[in-house]
Amino acid sequence: MKIDVIISADYIREDIIKDNIVVVIDMLRATSVITTALMNGCKEVIPLLTVEEAFEMRKRLGKENCILGGERRAVRIDGFDLSNSPLEYTKEQVFGKTIIITTTNGTRTLTNCTAADKIFVGCMLNARALANRLMEVNKDLVIVNAGTNGQFSMDDYICTGLIINEIKKINNNVELTDIAFTAEKLYEESTNVLEYISNARHYNVMINLGLEKDINYCVQKNITNIVPEYSEGHIIGIS
Ligand code: MLT
Repeated sequence: MKIDVIISADYIREDIIKDNIVVVIDMLRATSVITTALMNGCKEVIPLLTVEEAFEMRKRLGKENCILGGERRAVRIDGFDLSNSPLEYTKEQVFGKTIIITTTNGTRTLTNCTAADKIFVGCMLNARALANRLMEVNKDLVIVNAGTNGQFSMDDYICTGLIINEIKKINNNVELTDIAFTAEKLYEESTNVLEYISNARHYNVMINLGLEKDINYCVQKNITNIVPEYSEGHIIGIS
């Protein structure tokens, strides 16, 4: 298995992801939200690019069956039920529901990866379960970081390192590109993930909005066996 990394949504190239396995990471917070919603029993998550598409989809599916979630500039969108805080996606809120979600970077990244053979959703919360699933599939892998507004993002990159580290615990015989090797090295040498990501731009945006609890939640490792998979417009969780 060969592992490569794409540093942000702006760097996705179809020739790199085509027919490969892709893992999309936006650990602060879109992919942590999606994983949490599925962990808490939502039926499916539908990621959409625009706010208009999200309202349209809710009209189509009916208000009683779905929840609109997401953010622009990290805050709840007017008329939406939930923001992009994983702490809001509780069992009481989401069980049995369809979540329609639109976020600045995370859902854009997901919807730009459809040339891949399979698309999984990754974060720190499900890193080990994801590694197990990836080893079952055992095909070349591209880990796509959502990044922040098209730029490299430290939080997604260290999360990439954790996922590679978990894969190597199962099979040390993987071929890493230089950028994948560096992600794992960074993870291994960072004794404190939170301290490392406190230098990230998006971390500081979140702190200024009072979202420290979300960050503390998202840096937890391996709390769920849910591995979300995105196919034909829907994300479902397999454990
Ligand atoms: C995104 O998709 O851009 C992020 O998840 C932003 C956020 O933290 O709300």
